[in-house]
Amino acid sequence: MRTYFPRALLLSILRPSSCASAFSLTTSKSSVATSVSPAPSLLRLSRGGASAPSSTTLNMAERPFQTWTFDKACDSMDWNPDSHVKLIVGNDNSSEDADLILVGVFAPPKEEDADEEEGEEEKELGPLLLEGKAMELDERLGGLLKELAVENGKEFKNGGEAGGVTTAGRVVDGGKAKRYILLGLGPQPKDPIDPVTAMKIGSALASSIHSHKSITKASVILPSQFADDSIIQNLSTAFHSGLYSDNRYRTGKKVEVLAEKVETVSLSIANSGGDYTSAIQSGLNLARGVSMTKDIVNAPHNILNSISLANTAKRLAIESHGCITCEILGKDECEARGMGAYLGVARGSETEPQLIHLTYKPKSGEIKKKVGIVGKGLLFDTGGYNIKTAMMELMKFDCGGAAAVFGAARAVSHLKPEGVEAHFVVAACSNMINSKAVVPSDVLTASNGKTIEVLNTDAEGRLTLADALVYTDKELGCESIIELSTLTGACMISLGTKICGVWTENDDLAKSLEEVSKVTGDKSWRMPMAQEYKEQLKSKIADITNLGDRYGGAITAALFLQEFVSKKKPFAHIDIAGPVWDTKSGATGFGAKMVAEWIRRQGE
Ligand code: BES
Ligand code: MN
Ligand code: ZN
Repeated sequence: MRTYFPRALLLSILRPSSCASAFSLTTSKSSVATSVSPAPSLLRLSRGGASAPSSTTLNMAERPFQTWTFDKACDSMDWNPDSHVKLIVGNDNSSEDADLILVGVFAPPKEEDADEEEGEEEKELGPLLLEGKAMELDERLGGLLKELAVENGKEFKNGGEAGGVTTAGRVVDGGKAKRYILLGLGPQPKDPIDPVTAMKIGSALASSIHSHKSITKASVILPSQFADDSIIQNLSTAFHSGLYSDNRYRTGKKVEVLAEKVETVSLSIANSGGDYTSAIQSGLNLARGVSMTKDIVNAPHNILNSISLANTAKRLAIESHGCITCEILGKDECEARGMGAYLGVARGSETEPQLIHLTYKPKSGEIKKKVGIVGKGLLFDTGGYNIKTAMMELMKFDCGGAAAVFGAARAVSHLKPEGVEAHFVVAACSNMINSKAVVPSDVLTASNGKTIEVLNTDAEGRLTLADALVYTDKELGCESIIELSTLTGACMISLGTKICGVWTENDDLAKSLEEVSKVTGDKSWRMPMAQEYKEQLKSKIADITNLGDRYGGAITAALFLQEFVSKKKPFAHIDIAGPVWDTKSGATGFGAKMVAEWIRRQGE
């Protein structure tokens, strides 16, 4: 059963009079609170709910979901619930009442003297490496596991690929039908298992329990190398993220709950009396952040606009039980600060801009660092008067930076890192066209006083970010700032769809981001902040233009942003245009883990 946050309750908490300490509403009341409509009598149908109503019986209560009224923008976005499947710590007997048993196996060590010239496929596979519990089990099952490895031959590679699985061997044991499958753990590691391998195994677990339709309880047998909190946390994050399914805009049979019948998956780790419950929980908390990121990126623009994103941020603060506060600046507050670049972009849309600011403060202890995380929050990018001629339908993902930032905030609100105060800033708006929209050649003045000649209205992200950066740097006084945005098609051309680009002049910041990227699996690559290209941003009429040459467009975008952060302040621009989206599965959740882990490390 899906659970929804009751809108009536949410609204009552949102009202300034009942403001909890967790949540400080500033002068923005006008723009957000008044846009909130009365709660409908019933919000949503749950899965398998009432059958489709005929047109004569259709009423508000039976509408499967509500998007908008003709004249009013949608003011809230649903969140997908956590998966119903429980990942738990098992024991030696856990496989007894399971109906699917996954047995983890490392690949046999490679023969040292194997001829380097020989193709991978031609190398003889070593015998299957069954140890401990797996070996006992194989003996009890009369060699079934070994047989599975043989049967699945080359594809399974005796476990050589982390996350590879065999077909299932079926047996009836004590009157109960059971399936056994082998789960590849990759080559037997000399060092501790790396985080990415742990994640591959978590994802494989999620897809296996989904593909074996009738099972209710799964048990996973893992060797002693998995007896480690951080490995189990990574496994758990990937497992829970792998069960994400976006059902918010589906009805009836289209609703797809992954691993629907599965109740529990228990992890039994060899020679380990360890309790990994809290590692599993931390993994789930990170996955909740990733899910938030996906929810924001996947939501279409008629549902997620600047107002509904602001309300999403408020709900995030409310659900944080006091560790996150939310402040929203409306149009007037932004105007008072002279945020002409941001407001210039926002002008073309009927939905008013919302500058969203979430603050995380640990409940106790000394704060060692105050950091700022800025995200590009274009809820849709038509290009404006320089209208897009390609890929416009993908531009709901132009809030991918904001999504990563809020996803990280959600994870942080559960994980509660110490020693760090984090400010999450998103200047939310949409790049649309009306008679008020900016036209190419307009000159805008940003809040640091710099004038910008808009030579292309489609280079709008950097305009909104300019004011968001000045706010984070000067008004909030953050000591170091990272910023994530789906900023340029050029970055996608350079790095493809799996890797984000990182621009910073600060080597320590570059190093910390690189390390975090490696452990979270959100891949990154440092790019040059090539000052020699800065002359491309010279304007005939203003201080700077928003458009560089065609080549190296991702670099000139980074150079532009740098103009809006104090010179010596550690600052990194992260272009995530490529990895936010997967053509097959949609939002990837990219960036949430990276930002959350970066924040945690800042407090160490
Ligand atoms: N949001 C886009 C960047 C983008 C484009 C991301 C395509 C993913 C796919 C950004 O606002 C944009 O339009 N950038 C322009 C900049 C250009 C006009 C200097 C681009 O990359 O084409
Ligand atoms: Mn654009
Ligand atoms: Zn854009």
